[in-house]
This record gives sequence, C-alpha cells and structure tokens, in this order.
Amino acid sequence: MRKIALIAAMSENRVLGKDNKLVWELPADWENFRRVTAGQAFVMGRVSYESEDMLFSDRLNVILSRRPQLELPEGFERAPDLPAALDLLADEETVFILGGGQVFAQSLPLASYLYLTIVHHEFEGDAFFPPVDWSQWEMVRSVFHPVDDRHAYPFSLQEFSRILPAPKG
Ligand SMILES: NC(=O)c1ccc[n+]([C@@H]2O[C@H](COP(=O)([O-])OP(=O)(O)OC[C@H]3O[C@@H](n4cnc5c(N)ncnc54)[C@H](OP(=O)(O)O)[C@@H]3O)[C@@H](O)[C@H]2O)c1
Repeated sequence: MRKIALIAAMSENRVLGKDNKLVWELPADWENFRRVTAGQAFVMGRVSYESEDMLFSDRLNVILSRRPQLELPEGFERAPDLPAALDLLADEETVFILGGGQVFAQSLPLASYLYLTIVHHEFEGDAFFPPVDWSQWEMVRSVFHPVDDRHAYPFSLQEFSRILPAPKG
C-alpha cells in the first residue's frame, strides 16, 4: 500500500501558524523538510499554497480548492476534494500532505506516517494540527535540537508510523 505521509511543524499547543505565516524560523527544520520530501509530490490546501512560507515540490503540487477558477502555474494542479487529489497521485509510492490545519484534519485518518517537528514552546496562532490519538501510532525516530545561534527555540524532529493499517486512501 502506498505511503500517505503528513509533514508538519507544530508547537507544544499544536499551533501551525498565524495570519498564514509560520511563527518561528528554524532553518534545520527546513533542511530536514527538504531532505525528507526530495523528489516527491505534494498536496496542500489553497490557503497554505498562498503562504509566503510555503515550499513547493519540483515534481507536482496538488492544491486543494473548491474554486474552479483558481489559476495555477505549471507544476501545479487543482483538486476539488481530497479523494480527487489522491487519485491524481495514484501512481506515487509516497504522497506528502503539507497542510495546513484544515487539510491535516481531513487527511490524518488516511495517513500511515507522520513527520512532525515539535517546537518546544507555546505560541498564539489561528491554525492548528488536529489532536492525535497516540495509541494508534508508534514513534520511529526522535531527534532533539537545542537552542543555538540559528534557532531561538528547541525542537524535536519526530517520525511516527501507524500501528494498524490506515483506511485505503
Ligand atoms: N507549520 C506547518 O507545518 C504548516 C504547514 C502548512 C501550513 N501551515 C499554516 O497553516 C495555516 C493555513 O492552514 P488553514 O487551515 O488556514 O488552510 P489550508 O488547510 O492550508 O487551506 C484551506 C483551503 O483548502 C481548500 N480545501 C480544504 N479542504 C478542502 C476539500 N476537502 N476540498 C477542496 N478544497 C479544500 C479550501 O480552499 P478554497 O477556499 O480555495 O476552496 C480551503 O479554504 C497557515 O497559517 C500556514 O502558515 C503550517
């Protein structure tokens, strides 16, 4: 079965962002994101697509939007719902879902793998990662990164695999 992976950075209180921006700057998290997602196709919500912080796939970016008139550049395709987005990527071994909050909430039940950066701080925000039932997940990796010259907050790069198979997506 193909891997449906969610990749997100969130604070201890599950904040993903505010005013369509990230609320931290963590270069080592971007580097990890680039390493993990290299060469893969992405799915993201239209709001995240419009964020100045968003990083795009050089392969294919599927943008979830109910707006048929949405104009997208080359390398981007609109999908009117999540099943249509996954259909567009039916041949991919791995699909990376990049958020934001609305899209994570809908896709978490389909996910088989989570790449989560936990920023060890509480922030104010207006987009949140959904609550996770951790009894369904086992931790595969956790690497702690302390505060340093480039990073104002400590964070952990974590990976989780679903214990029971996710519904077919
Ligand atoms: N920290 C992180 O890892 C991370 C990652 C990504 C984003 N973010 C943050 O998350 C925030 C954005 O998240 P958000 O929840 O506001 O928005 P979002 O999930 O990025 O996008 C929501 C939009 O996606 C479309 N959409 C959602 N579900 C759909 C469905 N089932 N079918 C068709 N279209 C659908 C709709 O677009 P239309 O209105 O066009 O129909 C909807 O308005 C920002 O603050 C951003 O910085 C953080």
